[in-house]
Amino acid sequence: MADFNSEFWHWYIAILTVISILACLWLIRWMTAGVKKTDDVESTGHVWDNDLTELNNPLPRWWLGLFYITLAFGGFYLLLYPGLGHFSGLLNWTSKGQYEQEVSIMEAKVGPLFARYQQTPILDLIKDDAALKIGERLYINYCSTCHGSDARGARGFPNLRDGDWLWGGDPQSIKTTLTLGRQAAMPAWEAALGGQTGVDEVTQYVLSLSGRSTIAEMAASGKAKYDIFCVACHGPTGTGNTALGAPNLTDDSWLYGGSINRIAESLTIGRNGKMPAFGEFLGEAKVHLLTAYIYGLSQGN
Ligand code: HEC
Ligand code: HEC
Repeated sequence: MADFNSEFWHWYIAILTVISILACLWLIRWMTAGVKKTDDVESTGHVWDNDLTELNNPLPRWWLGLFYITLAFGGFYLLLYPGLGHFSGLLNWTSKGQYEQEVSIMEAKVGPLFARYQQTPILDLIKDDAALKIGERLYINYCSTCHGSDARGARGFPNLRDGDWLWGGDPQSIKTTLTLGRQAAMPAWEAALGGQTGVDEVTQYVLSLSGRSTIAEMAASGKAKYDIFCVACHGPTGTGNTALGAPNLTDDSWLYGGSINRIAESLTIGRNGKMPAFGEFLGEAKVHLLTAYIYGLSQGN
């Protein structure tokens, strides 16, 4: 309510709300005024099926009372809570305030627990079932949308169980990945490789790196191009570089698919996977637990 961009809307809403409540009050009084309970009930003049007459009985008192109570409730509510334009209510309640209060109660409850885990080395945490359970819940909440509920990933989202790492799989590297995020940068190569033919040749060479059968001639021309354009990141033998997130091309694990078409596509359009940073959002203690959970997965936990 503090976000109104002009005073007009504050008054517009406040006045309209008050008028509506007063109008309800007036409507009830107007409809009930002058209707008295008597033995000889007045007819409204409406008759159906020859003898079904609509009478004008007054509303029962308890029923009428409910209307007045509702109106009084509305009035009190608007006095105590925000509702009338940007008037914040006598209780000064805000949804943000309530959220923050709930969070701080929760932090006070689980804070000491997290603090204790934070002091425990990762290598000990991966043997602590209670800690791993918390790690698993954090994983499901924050990570499973991208890496899958079983952490086996999907195209473009790495498998976290397989012991094959883009950015390094020791606890410290995993923690850095979670804390700061990672941005992979593999440019598009089609132009540099001299168009489609160049892409096809290098693709053949990439296939040969993991021992797949290739068209030898094309792979040989591909290797010449690889040695110029690709060694800097993927290394002379194609084993990759975890400092740059450049994948190992000699194994059977592919982030974007290992078919000829997929590899050619990786070269043609480039790949720029991004792992978001979680350090600030989750805080050190949760990142520590998540690191233990992820490291544990790759150790076969
Ligand atoms: C500047 C560093 C850099 C250079 C140079 C580079 N790459 Fe890459 N490459 C990467 C990175 C980083 C990734 C991972 C992209 C991602 O994770 O989104 C990647 C991904 C790939 C992939 C996809 C692997 C998979 O698992 O799906 C292939 C294939 C590939 N590169 C081949 C090549 C070839 C061939 C060349 C030379 C023409 C090349 N790269 C040059 C950094 C580089
Ligand atoms: C928005 C999607 C997204 C979310 C959410 C996400 N990730 Fe990632 N993550 C990625 C992508 C994409 C990569 C690969 C980046 C690259 O291509 O280099 C990645 C990479 C990683 C890596 C590095 C893998 C390797 O092989 O080195 C780890 C570890 C990881 N994520 C763990 C997590 C954890 C734990 C969470 C939850 C806190 C999480 N991720 C949440 C998209 C996501």
